[in-house]
Amino acid sequence: MNFNYTEEQIMIRDAARDFAQRELLPDVLERDKEARFPGNHVKALAELGFLGMMVDPKYDGGGMDTVSYMLAMEEISKVDSSVGVIMSVNNSLVCWGLENFGTEDQKEKYLKPLARGEILGAFALSEPEAGSDATSQRTTAEDKGDHYLVNGTKNWTTNANSASVYLVIAQTHKELGHRGINAFIIEKNTPGVSLGQHEDKMGMRSSDTHSVMFTDVIVPKENRIGDEGFGFKFAMKTLDGGRLGIAAQALGIASGAFERALQYSKERKAFGKEISYHQAIAFKLSDMAVKIEASRMFCLKAAWLKDEGKPYSLESAMAKQYCADSAMEITTEAVQIFGGYGYVREYHVERLMREAKLTQIYEGTSEIQKIVISRAILS
Ligand code: CAA
Repeated sequence: MNFNYTEEQIMIRDAARDFAQRELLPDVLERDKEARFPGNHVKALAELGFLGMMVDPKYDGGGMDTVSYMLAMEEISKVDSSVGVIMSVNNSLVCWGLENFGTEDQKEKYLKPLARGEILGAFALSEPEAGSDATSQRTTAEDKGDHYLVNGTKNWTTNANSASVYLVIAQTHKELGHRGINAFIIEKNTPGVSLGQHEDKMGMRSSDTHSVMFTDVIVPKENRIGDEGFGFKFAMKTLDGGRLGIAAQALGIASGAFERALQYSKERKAFGKEISYHQAIAFKLSDMAVKIEASRMFCLKAAWLKDEGKPYSLESAMAKQYCADSAMEITTEAVQIFGGYGYVREYHVERLMREAKLTQIYEGTSEIQKIVISRAILS
């Protein structure tokens, strides 16, 4: 067993850390307050090759492994997890899904510009009445011979406004249940596609989240991903990788809060000594450090399995659940250590706590991960 990172992994982690500290940190509070999309930072991410990190270089990607991706995701999310989620959706859901299940024409037309970061992608699965219960899709894709006609509404779509391409999951044969679901590539500028209002979120406020409406949208047959009826499995397989990205994001949020709380506890004095010397605080710091280390192990093991081509669905659900729940606990403790200062925006930890909450909700709530885990261990 080798717990060392390779030179390349260290280089990628350091490049992400440098970018996050130098470029993202200075205006993160302002962007959070104004819920402003980080357009210039997304361009810089593309230049770094961070929007198609794991895509094969023959499709203009970075050819990096999943471990490198997780390390970069942690460093970016430590500072700004809005940028983290923009990156995660493009890498783990959109690029990975197209590279693994798209046709050569789809890869040429869509994957290449996505991997270069020239355009962004979005993943449209959730619906007003089908969130956790993803088989109950109400969006329909009627087979019209040479094309599909798509109608319906998708909710909570990350990158909905900034993306040029959506991967959309829709029901073609209701009577077939999950086997009647298809996945499609739909360009945002197709007639009949429109956006709902920008969601005014509690955290990750500068990533753009909207509902997307499809009204009689004509989708060419060649834009279906995979065989007829593969859409639900496409979504599940893609989410397995997506959950890894969110686990690393949660780890980044937790480490960001921990580092700030640790530093503060060494500077702030109460009852004649630094508060880190009070056992009440030292024990909190100790618990936080243990959870961060365990989170990192969950992330790296699942990423390693994926890189080895071994099954990782169970481990990715475990990583997502543990890292997200730990991030919520760690950020809450960080606010507690800061006391009153923790409750105001200037010190970042309240923002990190708001961001941690979302990692317990999207790409499958912690309860959904428990369904995946319990089914695997009981089967
Ligand atoms: N890989 C491959 N196939 C899978 C799979 C996986 N990980 N998980 C399930 N399947 C297959 C099953 O084997 C089964 O196939 P067969 O019938 O051929 O055996 C089929 O899919 C149906 O599986 P289930 O019976 O387990 O399906 P279910 O209805 O019980 O649902 C669930 C399972 C895990 C609860 C699933 O619905 C789920 O993950 N829900 C949460 C959805 C989610 O995460 N939404 C997040 C939205 S995306 C987002 O947030 C993006 C963003 O913008 C940030």
